[in-house]
Amino acid sequence: MSSVVLDKVTKVYPGDYLAVDRLSLKAENGEFLVLLGPSGCGKSTLLRMIAGLEEITEGDLWLDGQLANHLAPRDRDVAMVFQNGALYPHRTVRGNIAFPLEIAKSDPAQVRERVTELSKALHIDETLDRRPGTLSGGQRQRVAMGRAIVRQPKLFLMDEPLSNLDAGMRTELRMEISALVRSLNVTTIYVTHDQVEALTLADRIAILNRGVLQDVGTPSQIYNDPATAFVAAFLNSQQLNLLAARVHTPQNQYVLLDFGPHRLTIPWSDPRAYAISQHTGGQVLVGMRPDGLAPVPESYEGPSFFGRVRALEYHGHEWLAYIECGMPAVPVPEPPDRRAKTNGDKNGSGGLGGLVRRMFSSRDEEREQQEQVGQNVGSGTHRRSDIIVRLGGRPAWRAGDAAKVAVDQARLMIFTPDGARIDPPRR
Ligand SMILES: Nc1ncnc2c1ncn2[C@@H]1O[C@H](COP(=O)(O)OP(=O)(O)OP(=O)(O)O)[C@@H](O)[C@H]1O
Ligand SMILES: [Mg+2]
Repeated sequence: MSSVVLDKVTKVYPGDYLAVDRLSLKAENGEFLVLLGPSGCGKSTLLRMIAGLEEITEGDLWLDGQLANHLAPRDRDVAMVFQNGALYPHRTVRGNIAFPLEIAKSDPAQVRERVTELSKALHIDETLDRRPGTLSGGQRQRVAMGRAIVRQPKLFLMDEPLSNLDAGMRTELRMEISALVRSLNVTTIYVTHDQVEALTLADRIAILNRGVLQDVGTPSQIYNDPATAFVAAFLNSQQLNLLAARVHTPQNQYVLLDFGPHRLTIPWSDPRAYAISQHTGGQVLVGMRPDGLAPVPESYEGPSFFGRVRALEYHGHEWLAYIECGMPAVPVPEPPDRRAKTNGDKNGSGGLGGLVRRMFSSRDEEREQQEQVGQNVGSGTHRRSDIIVRLGGRPAWRAGDAAKVAVDQARLMIFTPDGARIDPPRR
């Protein structure tokens, strides 16, 4: 067991490329922490810095309370599994799994026993005498996992270990990894860009975008109470409905969200009303998940939108309806991209000194970028968009029907135009 603390860790690659930006995060003893984020957001970089395979540019890494920035990889007692678990091709499965124990000069009888036991847990005991070249992708990943686990390290680092497998194999191995790692009670940091993997495996999820930590919490905290619009949209099996609304407080009677053709009223008794009312006269973004919307008869008088069904989509276990409601589509705001592209920097501010100066003294620039993002909202260049409604196993509508959609107001998520959460998360 081991705890991992990252304190304002920054990684700048040669060429002034800022891959991880002052990231602070803690993995507790025995915790299963998942790093989730889109391709290129810095997940592998972070994992490799923890393993000691990549130098930390700024900030501190603590392993079990010990400053570890300059600790050699072999002194960290860390086992890492990669996407393409590279195996020794000329060793058998047994030889591959046993390798770390042989290096440590363990007793051969004990090695044999441990490898047999582990191969049973991983369902590869039938393949022990075969070479990696004769195994399926799923079996090879199991061997790679076995080799990482065999030594019982203090810390597991897994970088998308399942992403090359087909869906069925992924689900199966996902459950096995979870059971095995939890039975060993070893702290695990697991990288994925698959939100289902993150939700099902994690004790806590940390979401990254563009090298910046966006949110961290238990799967249900992150799903139900995302800190930003980006997090809400990323952790969503269907597309998040994101609409722009103007905030009014007519005669101070209630808070009105004005979507143009539609309006919703938030009573003062709603715990979120005050925070939203602080934006009176301005614009906000309103997020709604497709399962927070439902078809209702025309006579329904509760909070609702009205439109026309443009299309229905069959997903096996459910139908989705796309309703044209005459409201503008809003792109999901992302944090400003601070990663440098400075080849041929003409101002003489290149190099690490220049970059760090830019990183730490660019508050105005940052604000400017955020304002530009904000201007996307209400700029008159909007496409009209559909809102997506989740239906059950049987669609209530047909394409072309007039449709009334009830809005579960308790599940609205309100954001500033640059995507920061306004209604206070209930964590
Ligand atoms: N050695 C390197 N030199 C320069 N840039 C690098 C280097 N390694 C990674 N990068 C860049 O840093 C950024 C983060 O890369 P990283 O591999 O950490 O992303 P990731 O989140 O693991 O992405 P993926 O999901 O695609 O694996 C990327 O833009 C990548 O191109
Ligand atoms: Mg990666």
